[in-house]
Amino acid sequence: MNTAMQTSPQMAATQDELVALVPRVDIHIFCETQETGQAIQVASGDRRMSRAHVTIQLGGIAAAVQVYQSQPTPHVLVVETHGSRDQVMVELTRLAEVCQATTKVVVIGHVNDVILYRELMKAGISEYIVAPVTSVGFIESIAGLFNDPKAAPLGRIVSFVGAKGGVGSSTIAHNIGWALSQRQNIDTIITDLDLAFGTAALNFNQDGAGGIMDALAQPDRVDSTLIDRLMTKLGSKLSLLNGPSTVDRDMSIEAHAVETILNVVRYSAPLVIVDVPNMWAPWIKYTLLNSDEIIITATPELPALRNAKNLVDMLKAARPNDKPPRLILNQVGVPKRPEIPVNDFAKAIGIQPSVVIPHDPQTFGMAQGNGQMVFEVAPKSKSAEVLGDLARQLAGNQKAVADVKKSSSLLAKLPLFKKK
Ligand SMILES: Nc1ncnc2c1ncn2[C@@H]1O[C@H](COP(=O)(O)OP(=O)(O)OP(=O)(O)O)[C@@H](O)[C@H]1O
Ligand SMILES: [Mg+2]
Repeated sequence: MNTAMQTSPQMAATQDELVALVPRVDIHIFCETQETGQAIQVASGDRRMSRAHVTIQLGGIAAAVQVYQSQPTPHVLVVETHGSRDQVMVELTRLAEVCQATTKVVVIGHVNDVILYRELMKAGISEYIVAPVTSVGFIESIAGLFNDPKAAPLGRIVSFVGAKGGVGSSTIAHNIGWALSQRQNIDTIITDLDLAFGTAALNFNQDGAGGIMDALAQPDRVDSTLIDRLMTKLGSKLSLLNGPSTVDRDMSIEAHAVETILNVVRYSAPLVIVDVPNMWAPWIKYTLLNSDEIIITATPELPALRNAKNLVDMLKAARPNDKPPRLILNQVGVPKRPEIPVNDFAKAIGIQPSVVIPHDPQTFGMAQGNGQMVFEVAPKSKSAEVLGDLARQLAGNQKAVADVKKSSSLLAKLPLFKKK
């Protein structure tokens, strides 16, 4: 949550931080400056706010008081003011007369003043944001209104997708999930969305089909209890949610069903790794667009280059306020195969690979045959070293998120934080 103290420049939300989805609510904004309006306009087009209904107008608190003389206040009312501490309190007294008790009021102010902040909280204001408003910071503040920081941790969704079939995306996703849970001690859920041909269970030496189809078939019944029941435990901090891995059933998947499941799963563990199959459908696009991080695995070949570039371009355009996806180059150095040099590949895509994994059929073949991870069959191999490096990079992002959450929960201990 942003507060007078938290919105100091060094603590403002950045693209790396985890920002939750804003639920389906009405949000009315009365700003006083074009800059604030523009930042919120950008925020309202962001994927994390796409379910909310946002209207923006100028005029500050006075205009809001006028408008709500004759109509009910929305779920969230955001007002900007340039007033000093005393002026703000007077203006808000007028607003309180027309404001419904269920409305969460957020004030954007131009004074970074702890005393004002405390008075606002006492008065029942839900949040105080110090201008200048950033788009991601604004989304974070609004999402924070609906997410109790004391509740179970919100998971970061990291999706792995191959730039073409068979490039090693699933194997890498599973190894990274294992490393993050075993080595970095992060509670992780691997969700295998490759329902017909998924390999997660095989790679972890599990037999038996997983229950994700049950959840996809009746998304309205999905809650954390059901999801917990459908998951297979792979370790003290690692669980798997997977599909039947058979072609016996016809599987048509709705984006809405996957959304529901992932939203429940992300409340169950701090990290959710999603193994996204190499195919293109509305629900695949939806899953990628709504991930906190996307990892594209490619081999150094022309078809993978073309597809990776198309994916990167689409994702960058659709998620202008997010970090670009990560790139992994895998199976580099296949004997006698003409390959695109790593640097040329990176230049063409516009992203440096986070790691380059050698072609290592012995290690990967043994891991697959044994139903074990690369770290278990060849802990000293170059492949294990590189995969460990990627896991550390991802754990670094995870830690940044945890630190932000810790500071939020400390602030939440302040009394009178919620509106009366
Ligand atoms: N660096 C590597 N060196 C050698 N073999 C590898 C390497 N990475 C993955 N493999 C092997 O490549 C095969 C395909 O891997 P995987 O199933 O993970 O790919 P995928 O991209 O998920 O494929 P699909 O499109 O079928 O989902 C597996 O047998 C795996 O063990
Ligand atoms: Mg796969």
